[in-house]
Amino acid sequence: MGDLYQILKLWHIISFVFMSVPLFNLIVVNERALMGSSFNFGTDRYMENIIKHGAVRCYVFQLSVFISGILLLIYGPFGIQAIWNNYILLAKTLILFTLMGLLSYVHFSLQPKIESFFNNITPETKVPDNFLASVKPFRILRKRLATVCLFLVLTTIILGMQVYTPFSLSLNLILIGVTGLFAWRVNKTLILFGWV
Ligand code: HEM
Repeated sequence: MGDLYQILKLWHIISFVFMSVPLFNLIVVNERALMGSSFNFGTDRYMENIIKHGAVRCYVFQLSVFISGILLLIYGPFGIQAIWNNYILLAKTLILFTLMGLLSYVHFSLQPKIESFFNNITPETKVPDNFLASVKPFRILRKRLATVCLFLVLTTIILGMQVYTPFSLSLNLILIGVTGLFAWRVNKTLILFGWV
């Protein structure tokens, strides 16, 4: 396998590393929670901008993973038919499409609902006391979906490592279980020490 294949593999790996947007968005959201529950124009607008623009970046990295994955199949030993013959590759592809679907739901449905609360609000606007309370259900749903996305990205990385040599079922179950615990932990806390 020549240099082209190695470059494609590097592009594949860098692209899914950058698909860590859910991890960092969850950290941003948990940092915001530490600042209290009252509305602060600068802080809330800043956080919403990070999340809103993160969606577009995530589409680009998801698409890069998909295109590099397809090219790895075409230029590598597998051939494109492996996408449905090899159950690890099939699972990775289906999970990637699920991630694209979840991102699209957040970007085209949930985020516009959240944005609608912030329309016409300037730093001078006096908002009602319950302003953030009315946004909260949508933010909570978005946070839950980001947690699911983080879990799916990590699970796909575990599967990605098995393209050539599958792990045992028990190791898969343990690793995916630990991944679930990590995603849950990132939802609940600031993971100040990285893993915990
Ligand atoms: C979120 C989606 C994906 C993630 C996180 C992911 C992750 C990974 C990981 C961790 C590896 C192992 C790299 C190594 O051992 O050096 C890998 C390799 C590979 N992936 Fe993906 N992958 C994803 C989607 C896809 C898709 C959609 C395809 C094809 C349709 C694909 C095709 C491949 C191939 C052919 C390899 C083998 C490269 C090699 O080691 O020679 N991947 N992927």
